[in-house]
Amino acid sequence: SFQWFDAMRRSQPVYHEEQSNTWHIFGYDDIRQVLTDTVHFSSENVPGFSEGTFLKGTVVAKDPPYHRKLRNLVNQAFTPRAVNHLSGRVTEIAQGLLDDVRANGKMDVVKDIAFPFPAKVIAELLGVPANDWDIFRRWAGAEDGGEQQQQRQQSSPEQMMKARQTMESQMYDYFSRLLDERRRSPREDLISSLSVAEIDGERLNENELVSFCILLLAAGQETTKNLIANALYCFTEDLDLQQRLRQDPALMPSTIEEVLRYLPPVWFTFRRTASDAEFGGQTIPANSIVLVWNASGNRDPEQFPNPDHFDARREPNRHLTFGHGIHFCIGAPLARLEARILLPMMLEQLKDIRRVPDVPIVVRAGIVYVIQSLPITFTA
Ligand code: HEM
Repeated sequence: SFQWFDAMRRSQPVYHEEQSNTWHIFGYDDIRQVLTDTVHFSSENVPGFSEGTFLKGTVVAKDPPYHRKLRNLVNQAFTPRAVNHLSGRVTEIAQGLLDDVRANGKMDVVKDIAFPFPAKVIAELLGVPANDWDIFRRWAGAEDGGEQQQQRQQSSPEQMMKARQTMESQMYDYFSRLLDERRRSPREDLISSLSVAEIDGERLNENELVSFCILLLAAGQETTKNLIANALYCFTEDLDLQQRLRQDPALMPSTIEEVLRYLPPVWFTFRRTASDAEFGGQTIPANSIVLVWNASGNRDPEQFPNPDHFDARREPNRHLTFGHGIHFCIGAPLARLEARILLPMMLEQLKDIRRVPDVPIVVRAGIVYVIQSLPITFTA
């Protein structure tokens, strides 16, 4: 929790947990240094992107120079222009979801909006046919979804790994088929443009292309879902903020940045030391796991005055929620676009949004804070 971060930043900002040989990093400057120093702090073979997952071959799990090749190729297709191009469709998707619930006067923000919205946007971005939305939804949900999450908690690690592998190979087959189709008849979608992206005669091979599509699904769905749910949490926590945002829409962008800082959708990132690293007066031995607490950096008082206060106008707000350095989130412009389109529409079309009294919001705690259900009422 944030109190723990605060205590650790004061007492042991670089903390070695012997049992799991994990080094925890809590301070803003230290975090930036780890994320900048890709020579000592590698993204390869870190927890989460290891055995049995296609993600280990993707940008997020690769170091330079291969990282640079992948990222440059991917950037050719994933440009700010390509993202802004989507804004019309993003608005339509948001409107469709709002239309489904507007007359009811109540909804679960997570189930009705925050979950389907980014999944539909990524499907649109990739060019997944509308008829396939159900298959796609299942995968998106399997990355994190209420029921499947519970099922997973009841199964053994072997069963979980097996389920994950089955799902990944289904996704792999699906995207290679789609890629094949688009190669034969290209369209205006990301898969088509990724398949022709070329730098110095180099292209992404089939495996790189398909894995990247799976990465987008994993990286762009759960994160943006949390951003939307967290924003609504903040708007229902502070009804005055809700009112100010309705009166002054120009306040929305800085409010979104503050939601990102204050309740980040991603709390930490992993690295592994490639060699011994001198750090904060200590030596982190080669091959140690390094757990970088971006969420703690976001509350570092050296960087953010009065860090536990939610300030919708905070400026500057150089939070670490999208990471830092060469792996800085590729999807940040898309996530921001989605939030900047959806949230004003919600506040404009749904008045007096309130949390349902006496119904506790369901939070998956553990080491990170994720809202799994947020029932609200409103007037249309
Ligand atoms: C990388 C957070 C949305 C695609 C990252 C990283 C973070 C992050 C912290 C760095 C990981 C590291 O350093 O190891 C977030 C948050 C999001 C979000 C908080 C939403 C609020 C998205 C979206 C997409 C996306 C919408 C795409 C559709 C990626 C990719 C990378 C990445 C491809 C890897 C970049 C690289 O390694 O060079 N994201 N992300 N993300 N993100 Fe996001």
